Amino acid sequence: MQTKLTSILKEAKDRLAEATTIAETEEVRVRLLGKKGQLTEILRSMGSISPEERKVLGQAANSVRSEIESMLEEKFAEVKNAARDLKFRAERIDVTEPGKQRPLGTKHPISVTIDEISKVFMNMGYSIAEGPEIETVYFNFDALNAAPNHPSRDMTDTFYIDDDILLRTQTSPVQARTLLKQKPPIKIISPGRCFRFDTPDATHSPMFHQVEGLLVDEGVSMADLKGTLDSFAKQLFGSDAKTNFRPHFFPFTEPSAEMDVSCFKCGGKGCRVCKGSGWIEILGCGMVHPNVLDVGGIDTERYTGFAFGMGVERIAMLKYGVDDIRLFYENDMRFIEQFK
Ligand code: DAH
Repeated sequence: MQTKLTSILKEAKDRLAEATTIAETEEVRVRLLGKKGQLTEILRSMGSISPEERKVLGQAANSVRSEIESMLEEKFAEVKNAARDLKFRAERIDVTEPGKQRPLGTKHPISVTIDEISKVFMNMGYSIAEGPEIETVYFNFDALNAAPNHPSRDMTDTFYIDDDILLRTQTSPVQARTLLKQKPPIKIISPGRCFRFDTPDATHSPMFHQVEGLLVDEGVSMADLKGTLDSFAKQLFGSDAKTNFRPHFFPFTEPSAEMDVSCFKCGGKGCRVCKGSGWIEILGCGMVHPNVLDVGGIDTERYTGFAFGMGVERIAMLKYGVDDIRLFYENDMRFIEQFK
């Protein structure tokens, strides 16, 4: 039995010397000290030997066991450390490595222009209202006082989805929706996408953007309209910009006008941009028609309002000297990146 103990101790030493992982060390422990381990079996067999022998062998076996236990303890500490080192090494981050270059996006020129227009009006206390791009015939035309035979209703101008639903041809329906939702004083602008059945060319696109404006309060007059839009033009195009209002017709305003801005290229002398006139038309406007105020149940004896609408692409083209509207939709980075 003594030789058996010696060989167990030797086996423990040899195997532990070879073990490099926690699992291998545990295997050695089970093999020698586990329930069915070699040393455990010897200790269990002590009962069947004489008391004298038991005393000597028992001592020897116990000392072998404690020797193996302390070897195991040492080995476990060693392999656990090694495992942790390995994990740290695998998870190491080299902070000196150069970062990955991600190209930074830029705002689309149409978004830049909408932001610029919105900022001017927000500084004047307007808030932003939104409406659906898929709109009803009612809000796009009827609620805006468009006559049943108004040419803009024509199938050749408007994308109809069915008899009652269409892709909005203007942002003006947001006026009617806002009048239904809010009580005066109302002061909103509404930027958004519009759609018309146009063949694309340098100045037409079947999808484009407008910014609508609506102000309703007591005592609002055409003078307020002119003052507001003149101030807007000066903030957008520079303090030298002059404005001119020409009578026009829109179903939802009466009286209606178009506003021209003095050509910022030639200052009004006449050039290629303004086609020699010195003026550039940039928006439609007018005093909100009582029929439209009626839609929202607004008391037309007490309240009046003005409205305006402008094409974003047109303003962006004039402001940035872009001569083809299609450039806005091609998403050529060389073009878009110029509007940082
Ligand atoms: N919706 C008009 C258009 O698409 C633009 C417009 C003109 C809007 C006059 C208005 C307005 O609110 O008062 O041509």
